[in-house]
Amino acid sequence: MSRTRTALVTVAALAMALSALLAGPGSAAAAGPLPACRYDDVVTKYRLYTDWRRTLLDTIYKVPRSYAPVDRADTSYAGLNGGYTVRKHVIYDLKRMAAAARAAGARFSVQSAYRSYDRQAAIFKAEVEEYGYKTALTQSARPGHSEHQLGTTLDFRSYGNYTPPWDYADWGTTKAGAWLKANAWKYGFLMSYPKGKSTLTCYTYEPWHYRYVGPWTAKAVRDSGLTLREWLWRYRH
Ligand code: DAL
Ligand code: ZN
Repeated sequence: MSRTRTALVTVAALAMALSALLAGPGSAAAAGPLPACRYDDVVTKYRLYTDWRRTLLDTIYKVPRSYAPVDRADTSYAGLNGGYTVRKHVIYDLKRMAAAARAAGARFSVQSAYRSYDRQAAIFKAEVEEYGYKTALTQSARPGHSEHQLGTTLDFRSYGNYTPPWDYADWGTTKAGAWLKANAWKYGFLMSYPKGKSTLTCYTYEPWHYRYVGPWTAKAVRDSGLTLREWLWRYRH
């Protein structure tokens, strides 16, 4: 091979490697088709506290009972009602989002945030008692399976109205709910269980439930048109 040709081949190989790197999620190996909704207890692959962006939790995948990040701060640090915690790195964007919503006349409050494994177990048990096991499975995560255990996920409600968001016909159509639906991604938050996507998310529509993945990832997921579960399965699993 001539020297020029060798150089050209090298440049082409470098360019390919670089474009694969820059392509981001699209370049990651897919993990096969999204599993159909079923109930299982498989410990999720990425479960370090530093994996918070890519930890896949659904009706199949779970984190252990010991998963309990301690680097948490009260939601009052984000200018919201307190008594709830999220991991400290969530506060900055949560505060920005709360301020922007308030300025837009769409002020929201926190309904729930971090939940321990044991707290989730109690919630799931109560759901079973109220609705029966089959229905409970579609609207509440079994312990270990809830994104709330990550410390990056919150349920919101309308400010000044203590009615829980799930008691509305569709909280997503309220001022706060609609604002979050349109704008949360800019601050790194994604609605995990959107309307009409239950066959993919394995849970009923939850317009109040938002998981923080950071603004860059949130934009990538939104641009993909996929639900967070599909995206994590495809690109991060
Ligand atoms: N309601 C959602 C699915 C949870 O329990 O985390
Ligand atoms: Zn929730």
